[in-house]
Amino acid sequence: MNTLSITLNGASVDANVEERTSIADFVRDGRNLTGTHLACEHGVCGACTILVDGAPVRGCITFAAALEGRDVKTIEAFADDPLMEIIRESFSAAHGLQCGFCTPGMLLTARDIILRDRARSPEEIRQELSGNICRCTGYAGIVAAVQLAAERARRAGAPQ
Ligand code: FES
Ligand code: FES
Repeated sequence: MNTLSITLNGASVDANVEERTSIADFVRDGRNLTGTHLACEHGVCGACTILVDGAPVRGCITFAAALEGRDVKTIEAFADDPLMEIIRESFSAAHGLQCGFCTPGMLLTARDIILRDRARSPEEIRQELSGNICRCTGYAGIVAAVQLAAERARRAGAPQ
């Protein structure tokens, strides 16, 4: 058992964690932050994407104990985020989801892509999104949604 102190969605969290507890299990089971989804559980599909110090990571293969002192954000932290609001609306408008299981990871990755200005063409978006797998929608709607969100964010001068 390890002690862990992190900032989770803006709040300080102190906890005891088993050495092999992933941060995805920690936030889901320990904190009821169930927007972080688990599918493959070996780092392939991106459903478990979270941000650590602002960068996307695979929550299923990142040990919670390795994140001592770090800033961790799950999808729940972005309810009022202006850029995420644009992305959510664009996923809805462009039919970027069906069952929604992959969607939290897609949204967090899309936000990162837009912030890095790597959503300038469908080809670039496909490359940047290649670590996120969707089992039901197909990717045309998802790529269109990210492209639409990037255009809307540019027009709105959304805080990036
Ligand atoms: S559940 Fe983590 S990458 Fe698939
Ligand atoms: S919308 Fe169902 S897995 Fe992507």
